[in-house]
Amino acid sequence: MRAVTWQGRHDVQVREVPDPVVEDPGDVVVAVTSSGLCGSDLHLYDPLAPFISRGDVVGHEPMGIVREVGPDVSTLAVGDRVVVPFNISCGSCWMCERGLFSQCETTQNHDQGTGASLFGYSKLYGQVPGGQAEAIRVPFADHLLVKVPHGPPDDRFLFLSDVLPTAWQAVTYADVAEGDTLAVLGAGPIGDMAARIALERGVRVISVDRVAGRLARVFGRGAETVDMESVDDVAERVRDLTDGRGADAVIDAVGMEAHGSPVAETSQKALGMLPRKVQEVVMLNAGSDRLAALLTAIDAVRRGGTISISGVYGGAASPLPMFQMFDKQIQLRMGQANVRRWTDDILELLENDEDVLGVESFATHHLPLEDAPDAYRKFRDKEDSMVKVVFQP
Ligand SMILES: NC(=O)c1ccc[n+]([C@@H]2O[C@H](COP(=O)([O-])OP(=O)(O)OC[C@H]3O[C@@H](n4cnc5c(N)ncnc54)[C@H](O)[C@@H]3O)[C@@H](O)[C@H]2O)c1
Ligand SMILES: [Zn+2]
Ligand SMILES: [Zn+2]
Repeated sequence: MRAVTWQGRHDVQVREVPDPVVEDPGDVVVAVTSSGLCGSDLHLYDPLAPFISRGDVVGHEPMGIVREVGPDVSTLAVGDRVVVPFNISCGSCWMCERGLFSQCETTQNHDQGTGASLFGYSKLYGQVPGGQAEAIRVPFADHLLVKVPHGPPDDRFLFLSDVLPTAWQAVTYADVAEGDTLAVLGAGPIGDMAARIALERGVRVISVDRVAGRLARVFGRGAETVDMESVDDVAERVRDLTDGRGADAVIDAVGMEAHGSPVAETSQKALGMLPRKVQEVVMLNAGSDRLAALLTAIDAVRRGGTISISGVYGGAASPLPMFQMFDKQIQLRMGQANVRRWTDDILELLENDEDVLGVESFATHHLPLEDAPDAYRKFRDKEDSMVKVVFQP
């Protein structure tokens, strides 16, 4: 089959790879009909490159039709329409029982010291073949797959794989109630959807980004916006909008590739010039993230407020202003989304005829798999008004 494969830093290519088959009795093979491109894929494209191997199939936001079921699968049949969550959880371990699916003890990667395995996400997370492909093997299928009705277009349900539960968790962890003010840093797919979910819950949203078209999208949904390029100090601007106090909560939907961190950006680039083995060791022990967005969050949140981080960080030695964080009595929550923890709640909302979150018009581009190399580059460079790409293999 055809699949998007990682071939080197800034280099993904569509290649012929072996067809996935049922390997364990609880597996299902899904023929992929749609598959998202995510900001997290961009980290593999560059800063996390030391951890991925040439030829790995990438992508972690697929949905499609069940093509083959293992002998132990009892709730799914060939022809069912399903969405694949990006993290791989067993559904029955101690962590899964507590809804902490991204920490599943059955798929944790002890050799790497990381949580649950992820589809298409490097050897840090199990080196499991991903979903930007014509088909994907899904383990623990009875528990993991989200069965959705036939009929509506894929985009109605596709974002259950990542964007929706990630944004849902970000807003839930931000702990905001109706009438509270939430600042959302980043208006990419995750920040955009987090803004929509918060607005839907009656929360006042201030979205921050540097891409005018992305800010226009959230403005259109009812958020106030701050273009970080047109103000001297984002946190100061957020305080101006909140009686000098700061936002009740801030979501960081930016992560390790934030703009405005020149020193870390230079060191990330320098890291890329070292031999691969050395890169890996440096990143795990002394690697530093670009912290611009997180530092803005710490500054812009009110005293006693909450910061909810969904942007991915990967450095082991990122300097943080502990004095300010302690003194402001900030609460921090973060992590990969526990996808399966939220999907049933969100599915209820999606089955509503109204499309309250605007998922059907959320993607800006629907492209064939073959366009992946170009799409990765354009998505990174924010060209062509690209916000969310859906590949249709
Ligand atoms: N926690 C999870 O489970 C999970 C799941 C999916 C994605 N993510 C992460 O969420 C982050 C966002 O993903 P995305 O798909 O929306 O990606 P994206 O790269 O399209 O969006 C990031 C946005 O942040 C903006 N930005 C850059 N620097 C900024 C700054 N200093 N202040 C404010 N905005 C800034 C960019 O212009 C861009 O629009 C990524 O780090 C991704 O890896 C996490
Ligand atoms: Zn994703
Ligand atoms: Zn588990």
